[in-house]
Amino acid sequence: MLRPSLTQTSGTTLSGCTSELGPQQHPLGTLSSYATADGSYSLYSSHFKEAFHSSAGALAEARSKFVAPAELERFYGSKQLRVLDVCVGLGYNSAALIEALQGSSIRLQWWGLELDPRPLNLALQQPNFKANWSLQVLKILEDIRDSSSWQQKSSQGTLLWGDARQKLNLLPNNLKIDLILLDAFSPSRCPKLWSEEFLTALARKLAPGGRLLTYCRAAAVRASLRRAGLQLRSLLRVAGEKQGWSAGTLAISPEPNEALSLQGPSWQALTLMEEEHLLTRAAIPYRDPSGQATVEEILERRKQEQQHCAMESTNSWQRRWSRDLTGECH
Ligand SMILES: C[S@@+](CC[C@H](N)C(=O)[O-])C[C@H]1O[C@@H](n2cnc3c(N)ncnc32)[C@H](O)[C@@H]1O
Repeated sequence: MLRPSLTQTSGTTLSGCTSELGPQQHPLGTLSSYATADGSYSLYSSHFKEAFHSSAGALAEARSKFVAPAELERFYGSKQLRVLDVCVGLGYNSAALIEALQGSSIRLQWWGLELDPRPLNLALQQPNFKANWSLQVLKILEDIRDSSSWQQKSSQGTLLWGDARQKLNLLPNNLKIDLILLDAFSPSRCPKLWSEEFLTALARKLAPGGRLLTYCRAAAVRASLRRAGLQLRSLLRVAGEKQGWSAGTLAISPEPNEALSLQGPSWQALTLMEEEHLLTRAAIPYRDPSGQATVEEILERRKQEQQHCAMESTNSWQRRWSRDLTGECH
């Protein structure tokens, strides 16, 4: 799902960057701030031409697409919870998750992957961003900003700055993760982090029963996750969200003898329409076998593959399901 393409004039262009690079040389280009519908602070990247959060609200999105379907209560009473946040950005998803764990005795092992320190830096200068969090969670965000790692009681975390495709390889080999929060810019803007290879690598890191959560419902992404052996569920829309046929994807690493129910508090099985979407050309994956390809190379490779494949065109699928479809599909 493409996030709203705000124009630069709709936000405030931020120049308060500590780095010596000019904004255009930064990987995200110029960052502009804007307030989302729930009043939470967010950013827009001129390079990716995309907002960091849906217009419904940064905080609301973190809670509904990442915290709720994680079902953290599953971990109460267990020794530890291992979380990987891919694309930490301003830190909303992890902060909301850690906030929800406050008061529990869970030992959290956290890793984050992120290219650019500026979003977190800028967020931590905003009183209305800081007001969302308890002092403990705020301290964690500040520690990540200042030293890329944090420790509180028996919980700890490390942020690996750089391209997530390479940094993922630095996680311990035998590490198995319970929750992966995947919040990259949309596939057409940031295909590097939605490639068949990257998604397969993430899927391999999941523990049995582990969940990958994302706002993305793109057929290419879902098809790659399924080929990587994960079971798919469709996230339900929550009040305040724009009309649309799915709010995202929950992908589960199957657990022997314990299938995840088809219907849950925040998800359902893929509908027939969603299943058929995975049989169209939209489901051709983003490919990046070297893990080093540019956006242009990945998009061109996919375009060629779509032109030469015998799958149903996405337009014809759209026509068939036009009454059920609202919003775009990739
Ligand atoms: C949609 S924003 C993430 C929002 C974030 N989850 C939050 O709650 O604020 C996407 C993030 O992906 C990061 N990013 C883009 N390309 C990346 C890459 N190749 N490796 C790691 N991070 C990347 C951007 O810097 C940006 O912070």
